[in-house]
Amino acid sequence: MGTPDLIRNAPGLRRGSLARRAARRALEARAARAKRRIVTRFHRLFYDSSLQTWSNTRWLGVGAQKCTFDLWVYQEILHELRPAVIVECGTAEGGSALFLASICDLVDHGSIVTIDIAEYTDRPEHPRITYLNGSSIDPEVFARVEQLVGDRAPVLVILDSNHERDHVLAELRLYSALVTPGSYLIVEDSNINGRPILPAFGPGPAEAIEQFLPETDEFFVDRDREKFFLTFNPGGYLRRRSADRERGSQT
Ligand SMILES: C[S@@+](CC[C@H](N)C(=O)[O-])C[C@H]1O[C@@H](n2cnc3c(N)ncnc32)[C@H](O)[C@@H]1O
Repeated sequence: MGTPDLIRNAPGLRRGSLARRAARRALEARAARAKRRIVTRFHRLFYDSSLQTWSNTRWLGVGAQKCTFDLWVYQEILHELRPAVIVECGTAEGGSALFLASICDLVDHGSIVTIDIAEYTDRPEHPRITYLNGSSIDPEVFARVEQLVGDRAPVLVILDSNHERDHVLAELRLYSALVTPGSYLIVEDSNINGRPILPAFGPGPAEAIEQFLPETDEFFVDRDREKFFLTFNPGGYLRRRSADRERGSQT
């Protein structure tokens, strides 16, 4: 029986009465708690089964260390925004960059600049992808990124490199300047340090976001991008306010 049926069938609760409204609120709160418990348990199952799930996810045969629900959200964002440039910090094997390039092929627009401190010899070649080697927060590397981005727009940024708070915070402060109004600064893996996984990680992306957001009124957390319940980026889809601030849901 769903919440409305439980209320309808509750004996002695007059329609519109305070008691009936209180009963409805209590049942809705209970349903919300149950939903959170289910999502958290599935999140832990999905994350802890990494050999079967996110570290066993490939795009066209290349490893992409992503939650598959988030990849679908990326696809929707790319289709909606049609970014001219996507900057990705943290390339690894290159599967996420190849995924982004494939979507850019489908919408016939956009290129990818992806940065990693580690060198790989067998990353996928794609005309839309430029690989940079170095630390994402090295001023010389960032200057090269700025040069590659130029004055193109829209620009979307994905932070998926070193997940320690101080590194992510440094990236947020640097790379937020590249994100054009209405576009996204996506912070990956804000689920670590107990949100709800890896409780012993220590301060990570979520703590970096908590510190960054009060420093600016340019960005807000777009919870609409968490619609599939499971995301590795809770509170991590940061949207830059559009110039005219017309979106009613901007908070
Ligand atoms: C989580 S993996 C990236 C996953 C990739 N985006 C994907 O979805 O398949 C993190 C990557 O960040 C790189 N990394 C670590 N510290 C970095 C830094 N300071 N600058 C750039 N990349 C870094 C690591 O070498 C590693 O390949």
